[in-house]
Amino acid sequence: MSRRLLITGGAGFIGANFAHFWTHAKPDDRIVLLDALTYAGNYANVAALCDPGAVRFVKGDIRDFDLVCNLLRSEKLDTIVHFAAESHVDRSIVGPGEFVGTNIVGTQVLLDAARAVWLKEGVEHRFHHISTDEVYGSLAPDAAPFSESHPYDPRSPYAASKAASDHLVRAYGHTYGIQYSISNCSNNYGPYQFPEKLIPLCIVNILEGQPLPVYGDGKNIRDWLHVHDHCSAVMKIIEHSPPGETWNVGGNSERSNIDLVRALCAAVDEAFARDRSLATRFPNCPAARGASSAKLITFVKDRPGHDRRYAIDSQRMSNQLGWRAQIGLAQGLADTIAWYLDNETWWRNVMSGKYRDWITQQYGS
Ligand code: NAD
Ligand code: TYD
Repeated sequence: MSRRLLITGGAGFIGANFAHFWTHAKPDDRIVLLDALTYAGNYANVAALCDPGAVRFVKGDIRDFDLVCNLLRSEKLDTIVHFAAESHVDRSIVGPGEFVGTNIVGTQVLLDAARAVWLKEGVEHRFHHISTDEVYGSLAPDAAPFSESHPYDPRSPYAASKAASDHLVRAYGHTYGIQYSISNCSNNYGPYQFPEKLIPLCIVNILEGQPLPVYGDGKNIRDWLHVHDHCSAVMKIIEHSPPGETWNVGGNSERSNIDLVRALCAAVDEAFARDRSLATRFPNCPAARGASSAKLITFVKDRPGHDRRYAIDSQRMSNQLGWRAQIGLAQGLADTIAWYLDNETWWRNVMSGKYRDWITQQYGS
């Protein structure tokens, strides 16, 4: 079945990967990306799709009701894949307001636009909402991983805003008949991730010889999922899940932060041992001098309210939709390091702020 998709947050980390993934798998489907290009959004992530015109890029806010209605109508869109969000827990601790605005109000506006166009005009549709395992709160060390029926217990402003958006999506399904699906997934990593999140931050800091800040005792546990596996899960759900269903998507790869950071250090050291030209490109990296990158590890003050452990039970995805993660953590980390090595200009631009100046020139502030 061919589809016409609106991908919100399509210039962000997961949204951009999803745009590439869907276009590659289904080149005849229509795709429109809607993204406000906040600090986390990066047109360069999707330029290869949008510059030739295969995919349309619209700079705009999901809270702009008229814009969203116009796009749904003029492009005859039948599917919304809703990634747009403020996504970084540490930023939500410093300033929760933006998280309430984008994650809660933004989702409500999108749902209202879907009501106004799809329900009023009788369009067969799907609203797929991307959520997170963080809505379930923190797991004890020996507790079973989160299943879809685990009670909600969000504990950061970010998690609370995502939980509220999940409730709104279900409420619009129940009350008005919006045909929705929801996926709650674990920590993603891979290409195009903004280097404020743990894995890209560490890769870039190792290459630059900067400290690797590990919060608290480093024993907090996350369940890591390669973004390409996340994309394939979302495609499976959109294509095969009945409406009104929620799916938990995880990588089955629990690691403590300190073990993960050590694994990254070892993988970078190996890459430098294999390729001597890296020492010339990144002279500040300890591996350039034959030293261990692990010496950069620095324990720092813990994040307030830091959740101890997340882990996802994806059995329902595998039993009912035949999906399981394909990319093991060691391979995924090696591929991700290779991507950051091959895309030095991308992360230097993102980090230097040059990208923002360019976007302002292109699209205004
Ligand atoms: P990201 O921060 O990299 O990207 C978010 C994108 O949304 C950016 O391009 C940004 O410009 C855009 N955006 C923000 N506010 C907007 C607004 N008001 N209107 C339009 N666009 C706006 O985030 P990500 O890591 O790609 O996460 C995508 C989704 O996946 C989010 O909903 C997040 O909660 C969820 N999620 C992420 C992870 C993870 O590990 N990254 C894990 C589970 C769930
Ligand atoms: P993060 O990538 O911010 O994702 P989330 O908070 O959504 O899980 O962080 C992953 C884990 O790494 C989390 O336990 C916090 C920790 N962390 C650090 O120890 N140091 C850092 O500099 C960052 C950004 C995160």
